[in-house]
Amino acid sequence: MKRSLLRAREYENELSRKIPEEERPVFHLTPCVGWMNDPNGFSYYKGEYHLFYQYNPYDTAWDSMHWGHAVSRDMLHWRHLPAAMAPDHLYDSFGVFSGSAIETPDGKHLLMYTGVRKENGAAIQTQCIAHGRGQNYRKYSLNPVLDERDLPEGMTRNNFRDPKIWQEADGSYRCVIGACRENRLGSILLYSSADGYRWHFESVLAENDGSFGRMWECPDFFELDGKAVLLVSPQDMLPKGHEYHSGNGTVCMIGELDAERRHFSYTHDQAVDYGIDFYAPTTQLLPDGRRVMIGWMQNWDTVPLPDRVEHLWFGQMSIPRELSIRDGRLVQKPVRELEAFRKNRMEYRGIDVNGEITLPGIRGRCAELFVTIRPADPEKLFQKFTLFFAKNENYWTSISFRPYESTVKIDRKFSGMRRAVIHQRRCLMEGTGGELSMHVIIDRYSVEAFLNDGEKVMTATFFTDPAADGISFSASGDAVMDVVFYDFFLNDIGASASRRTRSGAARGRKTETAAGAEL
Ligand code: FRU
Repeated sequence: MKRSLLRAREYENELSRKIPEEERPVFHLTPCVGWMNDPNGFSYYKGEYHLFYQYNPYDTAWDSMHWGHAVSRDMLHWRHLPAAMAPDHLYDSFGVFSGSAIETPDGKHLLMYTGVRKENGAAIQTQCIAHGRGQNYRKYSLNPVLDERDLPEGMTRNNFRDPKIWQEADGSYRCVIGACRENRLGSILLYSSADGYRWHFESVLAENDGSFGRMWECPDFFELDGKAVLLVSPQDMLPKGHEYHSGNGTVCMIGELDAERRHFSYTHDQAVDYGIDFYAPTTQLLPDGRRVMIGWMQNWDTVPLPDRVEHLWFGQMSIPRELSIRDGRLVQKPVRELEAFRKNRMEYRGIDVNGEITLPGIRGRCAELFVTIRPADPEKLFQKFTLFFAKNENYWTSISFRPYESTVKIDRKFSGMRRAVIHQRRCLMEGTGGELSMHVIIDRYSVEAFLNDGEKVMTATFFTDPAADGISFSASGDAVMDVVFYDFFLNDIGASASRRTRSGAARGRKTETAAGAEL
């Protein structure tokens, strides 16, 4: 093993001991120590899920990309393994950038990634292979396997990255890679290989006509419910209504693959996440047929915050999300494995809300809520409904619904952040008639809100003091709600009994409570 990988392993082994478990989210993956960005190499190998990630063990800022490594049996309880790769060859001396993984018929775990080196200050990006059996990986002696000679006319070697590999029914391999023309617009290139090592250019699968940002990073291409789906993460987007926002975003295109021309065309496009922190997702087809996506739960434009580094880690992965297509749109749901995680259930039905209320037993920074809201009088919409969480006297984050405007807003303005960065985002929820369901997952430093059964998702991180664990509900106008609540920490529940009601009334009937909860 090369010195730089050994050093990274020793370093992470020593430093990660200094991170108490309570300083991490409970079921969202964080780096062993230091910095994490994109999920890489999400795969199922020898009975376990493997997830690698863009990793700088030495600092909580992006630099010197390694591949971090974790395994799990349920995609929620992750166990860190030693760093898998370090930038230790000339072709990847500037970084072991994003990529993917697959099991080959001889039982090897094959990693395909972008090796970056610098030449006269410019980054040269090539595709490389490493293989191993689940923990130690050897870089292929004939790396790089794709370089500038494999690029079609007019594409630059400076932006050629993030291979996503898969196997076809006939056993051969394909991969899609993000590339860029001199005019700075992204393309997705398709390559094929008989053995996973020798690759050939097939086609320009899709091209950015200027509709979605510039360079397209981290492509993924797969079949879902009979449709061809292309995911790309464009840089430098311009906003479009409430659908797309400026900066980096992730776009889902749904359409058809012209198998002859090996060209993808789409008839529908949408944002993958309508919140603040979600980027560079990757998917994996599980042995049971589910297509699951994990994204980096962060936003490039807000990472350089001085007040973010309270811990020896920075960067989180989203909860793994099951994908499907409903009415021509991408639908996401948290993986069903989460159900086994739930320790405690409380249910309130038919709660009248006008003003702000709390509900006995409902608080916590690691919790799951199903909230359904509707107007008390179907003829008269309420103005606004808000769910507050990570809340105390000074801080809170919220999700609010304005039926007259058909918008849902995520807002972390009062979460304790001190920088002038984006704190709010809105998405459209039309035709609701004032009824909305939210499936909200809070895990210490993040929230993921799945609206109307996964039709839209809003994700955001916040670094509020974990002691701010209040949850409240508020309406202007007369609304009625049902709440199902799970707290992932059974022992905290007793403390929640003394929660005071600020205003309004909680008149519903609690139908089930946790064992031991003092309500
Ligand atoms: C996306 C990205 C990838 C690249 C990696 C580098 O967030 O820019 O395109 O491979 O991060 O860390």
